Amino acid sequence: MVCTVVTGGAGFIGSHLVATLVERGETVRVIDDLSSGRETNLRAVRDSIRFQRGSVCEADLLDEVVKGADYVFHLAAAASVPFSLEDPLAVNAVNVEGTLRVLEAARRHGVRRVVLAASSAAYGDSEALPSREEQPTAPMSPYAVTKLVTEMYGRVYSRLMGVPVVALRYFNVFGPRQSPGGPYAAVIPRFITAALAQRRLTIYGDGAQTRDFVFVEDVVRGNLSAREADLAPGEVYNIGSGRGTSLNELTATLATVLGVPLDVRHAPARAGDILHSRADISRARRELGFAPVVDLEEGLRRTVEWWRATAPPHSRIP
Ligand SMILES: NC(=O)c1ccc[n+]([C@@H]2O[C@H](COP(=O)([O-])OP(=O)(O)OC[C@H]3O[C@@H](n4cnc5c(N)ncnc54)[C@H](O)[C@@H]3O)[C@@H](O)[C@H]2O)c1
Repeated sequence: MVCTVVTGGAGFIGSHLVATLVERGETVRVIDDLSSGRETNLRAVRDSIRFQRGSVCEADLLDEVVKGADYVFHLAAAASVPFSLEDPLAVNAVNVEGTLRVLEAARRHGVRRVVLAASSAAYGDSEALPSREEQPTAPMSPYAVTKLVTEMYGRVYSRLMGVPVVALRYFNVFGPRQSPGGPYAAVIPRFITAALAQRRLTIYGDGAQTRDFVFVEDVVRGNLSAREADLAPGEVYNIGSGRGTSLNELTATLATVLGVPLDVRHAPARAGDILHSRADISRARRELGFAPVVDLEEGLRRTVEWWRATAPPHSRIP
């Protein structure tokens, strides 16, 4: 039976990946320190997986988890731009040193392929849109630097150290279980929870800024293809929808899904926010067979349904 490790498997994206792997009948091991993930994210599959609470920075623990595994999906990370500005050393320790430890464990145990979660943040505020993998990178935060370093290590391990690695630059992933809480929350869960609680939504700037929102299940499919496709190791792929959506369009679509007008206010733009982001996904289409199937409206519908059905304790709507 195929044995697969998911680091960060209790997180938003990781927990969806774990659920899919379990459905496929694989042996699944998760290592997560629960710093931002929740055990409740794995409630439905808890009895079908081996869950190790701990950090990817703990070499012995990680070694135990990776030993005997065929594949590793490495998603564990301190996944926040603002936090990386506050504490770059802490973010570097998890994202860079932690990744190195994962790659070393994979090397020691002869893992067949490692799929890394990289980020569109590598592109910075590029004017060349849509962003293509081969264009120059320009990370604008310590977080973005760590994610770029991660994929560069992936390339080096692939080419020189016998560990096949594929890195996926996710764009703005959204879907059920994404945390709406705290100062670092992503825009979609923040907007949905505010709208459901009939609170006002705040858009920073004029709302014309665009993002490439990609539904979490499409990202899971991208990960599976990256593990299975016949490709040159060490490559990097954009995983997005290929569409740019302005925040004004986003709130309009959300209003349609909810069937009510939303109370939106505009606040001054935040320093450092990028203006536009959109993926060119033609390389992923060509080489991974990646094709997103859930559009923004349908993804919002499913996410809103989940919020209506579940109010996890960590994110209860006030
Ligand atoms: N959500 C997005 O839009 C997006 C975009 C680009 C890249 N990514 C990347 O995707 C991955 C998953 O992100 P997410 O949105 O699911 O975030 P998340 O915070 O929900 O998931 C990260 C998981 O890693 C765990 N973790 C953190 N530090 C750890 C450590 N030292 N050891 C073990 N586990 C640890 C957390 O507890 C959490 O469960 C991250 O690598 C992130 O950088 C996400």
